[in-house]
Amino acid sequence: MSTPLTDTKNILGLQLPTDPRWVDLAGMSLEEILTDHAWCEQKAATSCISLIQRYSEKDKLVRELSPIVTEEWGHFRLVIAELDKRKLRLGKQRKDEYVNALMVFQNKGGHQEDVLLDRLLIFALIEARSCERFKRLSEGLDDEYLRNFYRRFMESEAGHYRLFIELADTYLNKDKVRKRWEEWLAYEADLMQRLEVRGDRMH
Ligand SMILES: [Fe+2]
Ligand SMILES: [Fe+2]
Repeated sequence: MSTPLTDTKNILGLQLPTDPRWVDLAGMSLEEILTDHAWCEQKAATSCISLIQRYSEKDKLVRELSPIVTEEWGHFRLVIAELDKRKLRLGKQRKDEYVNALMVFQNKGGHQEDVLLDRLLIFALIEARSCERFKRLSEGLDDEYLRNFYRRFMESEAGHYRLFIELADTYLNKDKVRKRWEEWLAYEADLMQRLEVRGDRMH
């Protein structure tokens, strides 16, 4: 039996090693990779702000997530700088089927505790997948500068994943967190397979 919160065999306990959207790196232009990345950072910053607005009474959450907003927005700016350096354009935000499908599983109208738990775990999952994506980029890109660029992002997103789990453990029963996390991992593994079967890619 695996213990997802401590399992480092697959990244951060995800049950499938690879997000199928990111297998075909060679088929994507750098402009597409950077555009997609920029919008992921924007969403991360915006989501942290929403959590702070919604849970303003939770001191630790507000104190811990405030610097993450700055960090994620800093990431956005770094990506824009890379686009500019290469005279590439920031493209439109694509429809994110992965996040949309995760939100279907999210408990939105139940007990307040369950709603909070799912909001924290969905962000943990998205951060874990970002971490994985950046690992692939840090290993798979031709340009050495960009490989290092993505290694730093990978470490940063891994820290965010841990923070969201830690916040869940702070506000909710730890056993409950683990049980629900297992459910999320199972749902996500199934979702990944569905996306793969349909051959979804980033574009
Ligand atoms: Fe980030
Ligand atoms: Fe992040």
